[in-house]
Amino acid sequence: MRFAILLPLALGPLVQAVLPIHTKGDRFIRPSSPKNEADDNTVFFVEGIDYQPGGSSAYNPDSSSDVLSDSEQCARDAFVFQQLGINTIRVYSLNPDVNHDECMTILNNAGIYVILDVNTGADGENLNRADPSGTYNSNYMTHVFKFIDAFKNYPNVLGFFSGNEVINDDSNYAEIDPQYIRAVQRDMKQYIAKHSNRSIPVGYSAADNSNLNLASIKYLECNSLDGSTISTELDESRSEFFGLNTYQWCSGSTWDSSGYSVLNSTFSNSSIPLIFSEYGCNAKSPRTFEEVPDGLYGGLVNTFSGGLVYEYSQEANKYGLVELDSDGSIKYLEDFENLQSQFRNLTLPNITEANVESVSVVKCDSSAIQDAYSNFGVKNFTLPTQPDSISSLIRYGVNGTNTGKILTSYDAPTTFNYTIENVSGSEISAVLTYADSNTVNELYTSASGSATAASSTTTNKASSQSTTSDGSSSSSTSKSKGLANHNIHLSTGFCGLVMGLLSALL
Ligand SMILES: *[C@@H]1O[C@H](CO)[C@@H](O)[C@H](O)[C@H]1NC(C)=O
Ligand SMILES: *[C@@H]1O[C@H](CO)[C@@H](O)[C@H](O)[C@H]1NC(C)=O
Ligand SMILES: *[C@@H]1O[C@H](CO)[C@@H](O)[C@H](O)[C@H]1NC(C)=O
Ligand SMILES: *[C@@H]1O[C@H](CO)[C@@H](O)[C@H](O)[C@H]1NC(C)=O
Ligand SMILES: *[C@@H]1O[C@H](CO)[C@@H](O)[C@H](O)[C@H]1NC(C)=O
Ligand SMILES: *[C@@H]1O[C@H](CO)[C@@H](O)[C@H](O)[C@H]1NC(C)=O
Ligand SMILES: *[C@@H]1O[C@H](CO)[C@@H](O)[C@H](O)[C@H]1NC(C)=O
Ligand SMILES: *[C@@H]1O[C@H](CO)[C@@H](O)[C@H](O)[C@H]1NC(C)=O
Ligand SMILES: *[C@@H]1O[C@H](CO)[C@@H](O)[C@H](O)[C@H]1NC(C)=O
Repeated sequence: MRFAILLPLALGPLVQAVLPIHTKGDRFIRPSSPKNEADDNTVFFVEGIDYQPGGSSAYNPDSSSDVLSDSEQCARDAFVFQQLGINTIRVYSLNPDVNHDECMTILNNAGIYVILDVNTGADGENLNRADPSGTYNSNYMTHVFKFIDAFKNYPNVLGFFSGNEVINDDSNYAEIDPQYIRAVQRDMKQYIAKHSNRSIPVGYSAADNSNLNLASIKYLECNSLDGSTISTELDESRSEFFGLNTYQWCSGSTWDSSGYSVLNSTFSNSSIPLIFSEYGCNAKSPRTFEEVPDGLYGGLVNTFSGGLVYEYSQEANKYGLVELDSDGSIKYLEDFENLQSQFRNLTLPNITEANVESVSVVKCDSSAIQDAYSNFGVKNFTLPTQPDSISSLIRYGVNGTNTGKILTSYDAPTTFNYTIENVSGSEISAVLTYADSNTVNELYTSASGSATAASSTTTNKASSQSTTSDGSSSSSTSKSKGLANHNIHLSTGFCGLVMGLLSALL
């Protein structure tokens, strides 16, 4: 509000918005104000859940709806997120041709960030780990770029996942797929640099595999062949954050019995932010989530930046926190109350951005990677060449007609017609709250009304090239619960820290 009186609105878009998150070193950073000052900004810990009501198999690319297209359902679920005490959701399957403005505005105003998989299980909407060279093509990348266009203007997009569990130890996937994940990340990051007003982190979500974890993070985070000079191609194809899908800690486990101490040492040298992109073993029911205080936000808190519990709604595989009835009513399950209690009791470290070390050069060390996993496909860090057809899509854009935006003249609903019951069966009187701090419209408007407003500091690196090799194929099992019905997914690039919108305010 301090800046609200300064300027006319003419040049600035009305951006009722949460402040976009960026990365620095191995941390996510949430600006504390539009001034975006490192002395005030703090490290952001993801406290979240995975969200795909109906499961991935309910996604239909030909439908005019998806899980973020119905505002009343989104209002209902945003209320539940607030009750649970979370700040982030991951969504696996969304349709870039569908309008998400109302749902994304509700989530934004409710203070919920989203991490989105750009892929789905549908044909042409993913990189097939068994056939990466055959499925990395302009048809697939058109889907990815349309996806970026659909979501790039929402400030509460925390990041994009370029792929989910593409690399694993089945067949020859660890050999043939890594370079394609980097190629897709390169293309995504080039597209974002050219077509988005801000940098949006691009990351990869990995299966937890003790044989592959170290090789995967070392391969995906590095950006320099000699350890001193940054390679443009390696820098723009690296992951900007890394997610691990891990189910090692079940109710009753401890730090020592869970294997978390091994995760802590395996990942302790990471130069990029790490999260659990899925967690919450259900071998014992109910889930009591001691891994929240004692593991992820306890012993791992210096190494990981929080994570996402699998998953919101009860589906066939029984990982749900809530029961979602066919009439749209919700009932909290015991797991919900247990997780809510853990989150309520949690105290997170308060670290300012100025105290986070930035890491710019990370050596790509093929022998260290192959020492960790001998069949890992390092290929001298050469990447598949970007086909001209994809370069052209990046240069000219995919002309997506569905570029989403936060709605400023929309009365986001605070109530809804669905009933919500607690675990004892009592109906909860449900009213959503929208904190003023999530809608900093005046600050943005006035500041971006200044002369520098529209400038973006990103640059177009659209025509980088490299050499190729390609893989062969076969099929595989996915260990990701969220994608259990599909054998695909790909990885995305991670973007720089430049935040055009915010820097315009300085
Ligand atoms: C950046 O934001 C401005 C104002 O909303 C918009 O007109 C412009 O199209 C955006 N640019 C891109 C590349 O999205
Ligand atoms: C992390 O870095 C330290 C110091 O360079 C090194 O001794 C250790 O082996 C590294 N750990 C891993 C898992 O790479
Ligand atoms: C996890 O690793 C970090 C970084 O190496 C270390 O500071 C911390 O003590 C470790 N946690 C435990 C519980 O060993
Ligand atoms: C949270 O703290 C309250 C009050 O100290 C305690 O009663 C409750 O058991 C705690 N919840 C969990 C899950 O530890
Ligand atoms: C974190 O620390 C900063 C600066 O020391 C302080 O202004 C802020 O209120 C703290 N935040 C929380 C949540 O404690
Ligand atoms: C690149 O890889 C080839 C075989 O894959 C190997 O013979 C060659 O030594 C490698 N070059 C470098 C610079 O590592
Ligand atoms: C988008 O429009 C531009 C300008 O009309 C055109 O050059 C380009 O080929 C179009 N791209 C696609 C993917 O249709
Ligand atoms: C609830 O249902 C009534 C009757 O169908 C409808 O008029 C109203 O708009 C609904 N309320 C909300 C918040 O959608
Ligand atoms: C459910 O709500 C009822 C009525 O408010 C309350 O008495 C009961 O303690 C609640 N149960 C739980 C588990 O919160």
